[in-house]
Amino acid sequence: MKGFVPTPPATVDLMVRKLFHGRAPRAEQTVLDPGCGAGAFLLGVLRWCARRGLTPPRLVGVESDPRHLAAARAALAGRQRVELRAADFLERNPGSFDLVIGNPPYVSITGLDETEKAAYRSRFVTAHGRFDLYLLFFEQALRALKPDGRLVFITPEKFLYVESAAPLRRLLAGRQVEELHQVAETTFGPLVTYPLITTVGRERGSPGAARPTRLRLRDGSHRRVSLPDDGRSWQSSLGRTPAPTCAADGRLGAICRRISCGVATGADAVFLRPTAEVPAELARYAYPTIAGRELAIATDTVRSRHSLLLPYDETGRLLPAAELGALGATLVRPEVRARLERRTCVLRKPWYAFHETPPLLELLRPKILCKDIAAEPRFWADRSGRLVPRHSVYYLVPRDPERIDALLAYLNGPTARRWLQGNCQRAANGFLRLQSRVLRGLPLPAALLEPAREAPVRPAVRAGAAYACTGEPR
Ligand SMILES: C[S@@+](CC[C@H](N)C(=O)[O-])C[C@H]1O[C@@H](n2cnc3c(N)ncnc32)[C@H](O)[C@@H]1O
Repeated sequence: MKGFVPTPPATVDLMVRKLFHGRAPRAEQTVLDPGCGAGAFLLGVLRWCARRGLTPPRLVGVESDPRHLAAARAALAGRQRVELRAADFLERNPGSFDLVIGNPPYVSITGLDETEKAAYRSRFVTAHGRFDLYLLFFEQALRALKPDGRLVFITPEKFLYVESAAPLRRLLAGRQVEELHQVAETTFGPLVTYPLITTVGRERGSPGAARPTRLRLRDGSHRRVSLPDDGRSWQSSLGRTPAPTCAADGRLGAICRRISCGVATGADAVFLRPTAEVPAELARYAYPTIAGRELAIATDTVRSRHSLLLPYDETGRLLPAAELGALGATLVRPEVRARLERRTCVLRKPWYAFHETPPLLELLRPKILCKDIAAEPRFWADRSGRLVPRHSVYYLVPRDPERIDALLAYLNGPTARRWLQGNCQRAANGFLRLQSRVLRGLPLPAALLEPAREAPVRPAVRAGAAYACTGEPR
């Protein structure tokens, strides 16, 4: 049952319309459906031709699973000029075809054994990094497609931006990518995230000779874009808002004193404690802290339940060992000290220092938080400035703390969301990476750019102040 996800009839019909758009099939042509399953696309082509009273082209379906092949044979019994092949599409050259349509199997590298992976890597340029079988189906189908042919595939949209799909993007750039159509997320229920229909046309004559690609976005908008042809991510071409053209002083970086990733200790297990379990003698070292997974999409409230024990003073200076007091007594326990000394970062600094020095003077201020990797951009406020974000959280410290709410409203609004969706890099699962470089470049409306009031240079919070679940100090 490797990668079986049947295509609903309405999507089949949509894809068949794209396959024959402006070019009705001729009887002498041949259509290939690789991984044909129970024959959904072959039946779709026959339906399209029957409605128009046309003689259908010759149809070839290739399927490796005998159960699906039996279902296809039953569904297509008695149809003329239909050939169903029991074969592995990736095994040998299937021949040459005028048209290809399909929904290839989605099988990630983790679903393949070592022999399969090695065999694919030796035969497919798209078997690169953490590849997926649908990339290889694309490559094999493009090999089988005649120079002036057309291919229509539905797949997850991840190949537009993940690094492992760079070789496929380069292959696709050798032809005219006619259309990228993001279809409803509900198309396959929960089985396929962000499905995309790709229509690929004729081979391109010379580099740079491609016409723009039609882009139909999930929000109903459409436009034409030029795609990079060197394997770079197509993400920025796809975002509805183009890369910023405004000057550096018109971007988020200009109104923030700091945009950074949270604190990395290199040993959270040692420095992190449930706040309720921090003994009184350690309270002066304890700061409420938050990790990305604790930022809950469903609520505006930031709930910290843990504290980070900091061997640093409020200015961010590492405490000398002699001044560590009760914290020092905890850290010198042999198993704890051995754990801390195993960190490579302490080759260059004292054994109890954090992986990175926490910039507490900057960080303990009213700020805005977001996860480092997220399904969608979402921001939260730490108005009291008490929280120490950990390394799965990014934080933005506005120069004017009174602007937090206006800024938060903008960041959680549609304009910023669309821009971030268009400009953030993607993690392997299609999630957004909210890196500080990208956040700094976010264009701002004029109202947020008026000269800011700088907050005085002093930490906004002292260690030991407990943090209530409502986000307000107790
Ligand atoms: C996502 S399903 C799509 C089925 C059908 N085309 C549809 O849209 O309803 C992919 C199909 O590819 C078949 N398949 C997987 N690996 C294959 C291979 N190496 N060669 C041929 N078929 C394969 C699976 O058995 C499955 O039927």
